[in-house]
Amino acid sequence: MSEGKTAVSGGKAATTRRYLMCRPTYFDVTYSINPWMEPGKPSSAQVGVEQWKRLHDTFVTLGHDVQLIEPVAGLPDMVFAANGATVVDGKVLVARFRHEQRADEAQEYLDWFRSRGWSEVEQARYVNEGEGDFLCAGDVLLAGSGFRSDVRAHDEAREFFGREVVSLMLVNPRFYHLDTALSVLGDGEVMYYPEAFSASSRAVLAERFPDAVLAEPEDAEVFGLNALSDGRRVFMPRQAARLADRLRERGYEPVGVDLSELLKAGGSVKCCTLELRD
Ligand code: ARG
Repeated sequence: MSEGKTAVSGGKAATTRRYLMCRPTYFDVTYSINPWMEPGKPSSAQVGVEQWKRLHDTFVTLGHDVQLIEPVAGLPDMVFAANGATVVDGKVLVARFRHEQRADEAQEYLDWFRSRGWSEVEQARYVNEGEGDFLCAGDVLLAGSGFRSDVRAHDEAREFFGREVVSLMLVNPRFYHLDTALSVLGDGEVMYYPEAFSASSRAVLAERFPDAVLAEPEDAEVFGLNALSDGRRVFMPRQAARLADRLRERGYEPVGVDLSELLKAGGSVKCCTLELRD
């Protein structure tokens, strides 16, 4: 598939995407900033790299344009590129991390974007963990808070991007970023795990997305919602088998990928992938 071309199947059209990824050369679980991270348990950068490479190669084989940011020793979570920024309409709002263990990643992203000619690049003033908590759903930005991004970052994003921002409150620490509990599919469709959200946010989601695919706990627990779509395919953890069935019924093509090693740090497919939107 070449640039700009679409592939259609079952009514769903894929478009070529640009993604930014970071090889997990220095992946490790040396601290714990979410309930998935257990520093005492063995984890392997080598297995992490092998699994990550399969995701990377899958994107490339399917025609997507993948760019890379250099990993940095001492920043073991840098593989989770989704947290580095939010990029919409060519504007780049770089993260401000909640935890000091990840704070230095922000400068890497500022430098990466500035040195590659992106002209509107700013670092967020308030805690903002990039696409971990900000998801583009059509014209609207869905924004998570509760564990990581500050709710004031939602207003800041509204100003910066000039887009409507819908605030959603996360309540379950195992689903601490919005992209662990909700995924944007295509055509204004989403899938999410209702139990991860406060009652009022569930009501907002039900009203906005009455036809959403709702995940069962089994699929949410293997990070099935940590997925991303090119409009037709849905790249997602392979372990989320019934969620994949639901997506097939809707005409999507699930592409299962095993990132079980990276799940030891509380991340999977979407966490590894930052979408660059011109
Ligand atoms: N260990 C990382 C953290 O806790 C995982 C980040 C996962 N990224 C994501 N987009 N959900 O910050």
